[in-house]
Amino acid sequence: MPYDTNLNFIFWSPTKIIFGKNTALDVAIEVENLKCKKAFIVTDRELAKNTDIPERIKKVLSNLCIGIFSEVEPDSGIHIVNQGAKLGKELGADCIVSVGGGSAIDTAKGIAIVLKEGGKLQDYAGFQVLTRPQTPHIVIPTTAGTGSEVTYVAVIKDHEEGRKLLFGDYNILPNVAILDPKMTEGLPPRLTAATGMDAMCHAIEALHSLQREPIADGMALHAIRLIKEFLPKAVENGTDMMARGQMLIAANMAGAAFSNAQVGIVHALAHSVGARFKVHHGLANSILLPACLRYNADACGEVYLDVLLALGVNIEGIQPDKAGEVVADKIIEFTKKLGLPQRLRDVGVPEEGLKECSELALSDGAIVYNPKPIFDPDEILKVYQKAF
Ligand SMILES: [Fe+2]
Repeated sequence: MPYDTNLNFIFWSPTKIIFGKNTALDVAIEVENLKCKKAFIVTDRELAKNTDIPERIKKVLSNLCIGIFSEVEPDSGIHIVNQGAKLGKELGADCIVSVGGGSAIDTAKGIAIVLKEGGKLQDYAGFQVLTRPQTPHIVIPTTAGTGSEVTYVAVIKDHEEGRKLLFGDYNILPNVAILDPKMTEGLPPRLTAATGMDAMCHAIEALHSLQREPIADGMALHAIRLIKEFLPKAVENGTDMMARGQMLIAANMAGAAFSNAQVGIVHALAHSVGARFKVHHGLANSILLPACLRYNADACGEVYLDVLLALGVNIEGIQPDKAGEVVADKIIEFTKKLGLPQRLRDVGVPEEGLKECSELALSDGAIVYNPKPIFDPDEILKVYQKAF
């Protein structure tokens, strides 16, 4: 699809990417490359409890590691960030190695801020508040989905106020991302599928965003090709290193794409059901994606033809204004094969909660970039009802 003749954009993705089986075991080299000597591991509580991954990273860091903070929970909160930063400061941490999924990575971004700036995390919420580089941060993702290792955003929950705080700042972009397929090997099939669909939504949303641009588009389209081919394989056989590796690359490319182009309606609606009813982020996205594609269909048909091509569909005879419908049907077919739930009612969302979610979604930052402007919560309610 052609771009506006007045197209101008910034593409910013300075994170060093290292890919390969067992590359996480060379993390000490990256700590030294950053001229650091006291690495502080930030990881997920469940990961620390159920796997030996954080301990293995600690072992290979040897005397470069000054401690592990393993209190991160799903939907991490500001109290956890402040607690982690306090420990990191006491131990004299000069860099962070985060090991985990989106929540651990976002928590580490928050800790990186407090370690550098002092005070409390809440003081730095918003966009481009920081004025200097933050504590060096190396990420080792253990899921393939969020792309948080290359995004400049952290979402941290304020449990007291019952809201999510957004930290958007180029200064919190991680320095290094180590994509090691061995680190995602133990991820259960359902989580593999759900996090993979988060990456699919990042790619599609970057493409239909009002802020879409050619570099992000290229990354997003290739991410879709990889997810289409390798997500079913990773779900079917978690030890398939080829599939695990390609999914890490796909999630990373989709992450860099949306970090620049932004996301839209799917994420706005998913954030709201996530905040209100604790629906897993990837699952919420996966369920809402088809209804959102149908909603946007008349605004970005050409883009959805590109998505169909990336999904390997023969587009001959498909009119642009019908492309969104066809993509939606293909996504449903795809997620059914992955064994994912199809309706909001299947994941604990009550019908009477949809109205409140609609109002919440309208104030979500992501809605601003949706190709079809939305100002009326009733419009959103209709989309939710279709996905219910
Ligand atoms: Fe997402």
